[in-house]
Amino acid sequence: MNDDEPSIFLVGMMGSGKTTIGKNLARTLHRTFVDLDHEIEARCGVRIPVVFEIEGEEGFRKRESQVLEEMTQMPKIILATGGGAIIAQENRENLKQRGVVIYLRASVEDLYRRTARDRNRPLLATGDPRATLQRLLIEREPFYKSIADIILDTGSSTISAVVHELIEQVRQFKLSQPLKLKVIQQLPQALGADGPNSNSHSTSGTLSMHTVEVATPGGHYPIHIAPGQLDLVGECIPVDATMVAVVTNSVVDQLYGDRVRQSIQAKGFKTLTITLPDGEAYKDWSTLNTIFDEMLSAQLDRRAVIVALGGGVIGDMAGFAAAVYMRGIRFVQVPTTLLAQVDSSVGGKTAVNHPLGKNMIGAFYQPIAVIIDTDVLATLPDREISAGLAEVVKYGLIMNADFFAWCEQNATALKSRDPLLLGEAIRRSCAFKAEVVSADEREAGQRALLNLGHTFGHAIEAGLGYGEWLHGEAVGCGLVMAAALSAKVAGLSEADVARVEKIVADIGCPTRAPSLSGTQEWLTHMQGDKKSQAGTIHFVVMPHIGHALVTTSDLEYVEAVLSTYCLKS
Ligand code: NAD
Ligand code: GLY
Repeated sequence: MNDDEPSIFLVGMMGSGKTTIGKNLARTLHRTFVDLDHEIEARCGVRIPVVFEIEGEEGFRKRESQVLEEMTQMPKIILATGGGAIIAQENRENLKQRGVVIYLRASVEDLYRRTARDRNRPLLATGDPRATLQRLLIEREPFYKSIADIILDTGSSTISAVVHELIEQVRQFKLSQPLKLKVIQQLPQALGADGPNSNSHSTSGTLSMHTVEVATPGGHYPIHIAPGQLDLVGECIPVDATMVAVVTNSVVDQLYGDRVRQSIQAKGFKTLTITLPDGEAYKDWSTLNTIFDEMLSAQLDRRAVIVALGGGVIGDMAGFAAAVYMRGIRFVQVPTTLLAQVDSSVGGKTAVNHPLGKNMIGAFYQPIAVIIDTDVLATLPDREISAGLAEVVKYGLIMNADFFAWCEQNATALKSRDPLLLGEAIRRSCAFKAEVVSADEREAGQRALLNLGHTFGHAIEAGLGYGEWLHGEAVGCGLVMAAALSAKVAGLSEADVARVEKIVADIGCPTRAPSLSGTQEWLTHMQGDKKSQAGTIHFVVMPHIGHALVTTSDLEYVEAVLSTYCLKS
């Protein structure tokens, strides 16, 4: 690489802005701009879709490698590469060795918006383009990151803002090598950052590593999903951490505490284990305070990192502790229940319960990474698997009818813990949740839809006393009640209500609720829900499966649902 005036290579997905930004950058820096795809087209004399048609993707990739080999040798150019150019190892090596590599990162939504009208994208020509973009991003992102010297988000900024930021980043990069991934320096080293070889960390070999990215204003972070991940927790502790507090409970510590501590200590960090009593009943202020007692006694400073090792109770409490300890320290989620893996560890909702309401005291505070070891589900009691599956089904109901149908087909196998299907359910659920929270971190809009079934579910939990029913069981029953209400207020068909009731039964969750002390008690608990406004209860309902909205309901409809779905006492 020519250190004074290195060539600049732009990598990233189709639609990430490589051509537009590259042209602008070249104009500003008075350099030559080359678009690799245009160069290939110029040499072949036909458009890229035609090359794909005649020679297939393999033929196109061969041409791409030849032209890239040549172009990366040109001095001082700005080169925009095709989205898949980084798949071939020789291309990655050429890019890495011959210039400054910039990964232009964008969300699936932005990519979809920018490519929607472009007919020159053969990989998006068939099927659901949004799903294709999501899949390609998951496949390619580890490659982009593995060679990137700089990662730049192209989200909502203007082109000129991105170009100026880029010029500044390149300047700083030259000044301060070997410091590399500047934009994500606040994040831990991504486990999959060195490409698909990270799959070799997998212990059981039945599932490969998947990484889903979450991008919220409160933080960007990876969710790594694979068997055997517990042994890699140490890898995601930032190098400047002074100490690692492993917050867990007595059950999970016994099962997995040693492995996680060893992984962290093997990277040279000291650990402090804070073991809380097990159960929802302890998700309260006084137990939270014991975390602070132990951290302060051990003199943990602002560069300490919390690792939340456990289910949703531990994740919510340890996350809240991280949010407020010394006004905020970094934390890593290591969820060990299915419910925590598919829902609570992602998106940064942290809280403790108050006697007057569930999760009433808390903060939005994003982790720096989520590490999901699918092997740990082996020790989870059956009831907990069923409870977690209720949250999986929820994603299908609110945002993807095909995924709901997939859940219906596989409900029994999922309940029986088929590892491949569970892995798929976790990966897709995390992708759904990442998409929602990336668009609406603080529940100003669509994130509220994730509460389908929760208004009824929270009333069950609060009415019976926390811990009597599992949270996921209450949500499962709440999904049935929300479907019944949807039929009355949003036009959901009775056939679809029956489908919801059947799947909830198939995954092993209750479909009938306790009557509590009557309708008034139900209403009181439902009014306590955080979605309520000025005492008016808000419900998430489905006009049809795969689509949800928030609404209010006449009391008579709610009463009708309660009278049908509550067990007579
Ligand atoms: P939990 O944390 O109580 O865990 C369930 C039980 O499983 C506990 O007894 C736990 O010790 C045990 N356990 C955990 N991992 C295990 C393993 N691998 N093997 C054997 N036993 C194991 O319950 P949960 O269902 O994980 O979480 C429920 C909590 O999550 C509720 O408090 C709920 O409010 C919260 N939640 C939060 C969010 C969010 O977005 N933050 C979303 C959904 C739920
Ligand atoms: N579990 C609901 C949410 O994260 O918003």
